[in-house]
Amino acid sequence: MVLPSLGDLVAEKVHLRYGDTVALAGASATIASGEIVAMVGPSGSGKSSLLYCLAGLIAPDSGEVRFAGTNLARLPDDERSDLRRSRFGFVFQFAELVPELTLRENIALPLELNGVKRRERVSRVDELVDRLGLADHAERRPSKVSGGQAQRAAVARAIAHRPSFLFADEPTGSLDSANGMVVLDLLLQLANDDGAAVVIVTHDERVAAQADRVIRIADGRCGQAAS
Ligand SMILES: Nc1ncnc2c1ncn2[C@@H]1O[C@H](COP(=O)(O)OP(=O)(O)OP(=O)(O)O)[C@@H](O)[C@H]1O
Ligand SMILES: [Mg+2]
Repeated sequence: MVLPSLGDLVAEKVHLRYGDTVALAGASATIASGEIVAMVGPSGSGKSSLLYCLAGLIAPDSGEVRFAGTNLARLPDDERSDLRRSRFGFVFQFAELVPELTLRENIALPLELNGVKRRERVSRVDELVDRLGLADHAERRPSKVSGGQAQRAAVARAIAHRPSFLFADEPTGSLDSANGMVVLDLLLQLANDDGAAVVIVTHDERVAAQADRVIRIADGRCGQAAS
């Protein structure tokens, strides 16, 4: 057996219910630092639930999620949110940008929250805006750009603070397939440059094919398959 290394994110026998509905029924998975993992499975099988548990956004009813050996549920709330803010990044199906802020301001948000100094913030945001092809749209609000542009900004925002783990829940689900592939390529490239691990929930087998590993979820449990 290969022992998990200290930087791994480990879910062990995670159970989660919503009322009478069992969402996770003993799901176990290890995400090693730097690896790209696709999570696939039928609708309702528990993919989003497991992603949110791994990301410390939902506490399991039983079982554990450990990061660097620490059970997230044992951390005080403020330490758990510090960890999420500094080490984790999120991309959701619909960009979920802050509507009142421009794309540039949205991308800068995690840097501000992490206390990154203005000069560095500006240069990091400029770099991302450039790489994501958003230079002509950066001063617009999310409602004034296309879905693909908004989703690219969401990717930039998720990665701006150079997280160790990037969680993406069907990040290309609201886009057509060409735009979806653009967003996905950028997400994987940026994560790769920064050495971030990526956990990506997807229905798209082409997306899964780009992962280092595929976790298949059925009925709230995980199986594994090489991609
Ligand atoms: N907020 C909620 N309240 C009640 N039940 C929920 C809630 N969220 C999820 N569920 C239920 O938990 C189970 C797992 O849901 P989950 O969202 O994790 O599935 P999923 O694999 O992400 O599905 P999809 O591919 O449709 O997004 C499903 O039976 C779902 O109906
Ligand atoms: Mg889901």
